[in-house]
Amino acid sequence: MDPQTLTVTDNRTNRTYTIPIWRGTVRAMDLRQIKTGPEDFGLMTYDPAFMNTASCQSAITYLDGEKGILRYRGYPIEQLAESCTFLEVAYLLLHGELPTAEQLAYWDCEIMHHTLTHENVKKFMDGFHHDAHPMGILMSTVAALSTFYPEAHNISDPKCRRKQIVRLIGKLPTLAAYAYRHRLGLPYVYPDPELGYTKNYMNMLWRRTEPRYAANPVMARALEVLFILHADHEQNCSTSTMRAVGSSTADPYSTTAAAIAALSGPLHGGANEEVLRMLAEIGSKDNIPGFIAQVKEGKRKLMGFGHRVYKNYDPRARIIKRVADEVFEVTGRNPKIDIALDLERIALSDEYFIHRKLYPNVDFYSGIIYEAMGFKPEQFTVLFGIPRTVGWLAQWQEMLQDPEQKIARPRQIYIGEEQRDFVPMELRGQGQLTHA
Ligand code: CMC
Repeated sequence: MDPQTLTVTDNRTNRTYTIPIWRGTVRAMDLRQIKTGPEDFGLMTYDPAFMNTASCQSAITYLDGEKGILRYRGYPIEQLAESCTFLEVAYLLLHGELPTAEQLAYWDCEIMHHTLTHENVKKFMDGFHHDAHPMGILMSTVAALSTFYPEAHNISDPKCRRKQIVRLIGKLPTLAAYAYRHRLGLPYVYPDPELGYTKNYMNMLWRRTEPRYAANPVMARALEVLFILHADHEQNCSTSTMRAVGSSTADPYSTTAAAIAALSGPLHGGANEEVLRMLAEIGSKDNIPGFIAQVKEGKRKLMGFGHRVYKNYDPRARIIKRVADEVFEVTGRNPKIDIALDLERIALSDEYFIHRKLYPNVDFYSGIIYEAMGFKPEQFTVLFGIPRTVGWLAQWQEMLQDPEQKIARPRQIYIGEEQRDFVPMELRGQGQLTHA
């Protein structure tokens, strides 16, 4: 018998089936042949929240959560964070190989060329309330870009697809910076392509009356590294959303807006904002034991801890801790880091967290650096969304080129009423109102 198979016996029928095992998985569709009779639909799998289901094959990001390993296209995240620019990593994720010097120069130029947005973008930006959350603004303005580029729906044309990819990567920092300045009532700063991706973003955020914002090189490099660390993370909630919405062949702007919506949730990208609020609420080291007790009683969550895939230290958190030290050399120490370090120390020696394999994730330390750099908490998730757009687009492109992919459409187990006859309004009793 082929060892790469699974033999199952259906005890309802006593029939035995041999199912191929391929790359550590069985195909859910192979179970459909398991039936009690011709009328039976066949066996399905039930996996709420996709705890144990691979939805695609991907060659982009490798993640071993037990060992704490993260690689983009085979390259360890530590090496990329050490040696690359963000746009170099973006090229790698999208093209599969690191660029040559010539390719990188062309790619940088192409992306920076697309940082400008249509003037009308500023008009609808102005329509948002002064205290509108920047993630809401980003999501809406990215969706609105689909109306500026109607040709973008032509997703089967590789040239057209590439154009939209370059536009999205180029325009995201501009939209994010406009959202930031709108909140403060400051005039928008046009992109300055010569500054490069991150310094241009900093210029659009923080330039006042000077001709150009002089970004501190340590801060600019820190932002670059943070962008690299956030660029992709295989099939997380927002990336699966990107793939699911993209599978309907919606245009990439609408699809990216859906991914931004998924990212905004506090259990996903929104966690970095929540971590800062949590640290502010804890306020001092003395309050940590009381806070941990609340977490263990199930009253609170330790934000920035735990991960669906990592059951070991998140390698990104390790790099971020190092970057934090470099940033604090310039800005002075953010006092919240001491609370965070103590929180981590206490949590990692506590049976509750050890037993559940809960470690700090990427969001635990990133906000502390962002705050030291001058960002407000409501900006943090935007800082996640800008680089993650690259990962979303790489995964979207891969999905569109995968002949096995079709429109995403899960099955369900229906648990509602059996068929029943319509009840005219005058015969409906009070009891039925409770169904509302
Ligand atoms: N604080 C306290 N308990 C936790 C936490 C936490 N942060 N995370 C998980 N647990 C407990 C959870 O209550 C459960 O306990 P029990 O077995 O007694 O019911 C156990 O650990 C397993 O957790 P889970 O919720 O079943 O795990 P999940 O894979 O469904 O959720 C998670 C993963 C990231 C949503 C969750 O760990 C969490 O809510 N963390 C806090 C939010 C956060 O930091 N999110 C950022 C994730 S990393 C960046 C990103 O992808 O955006």
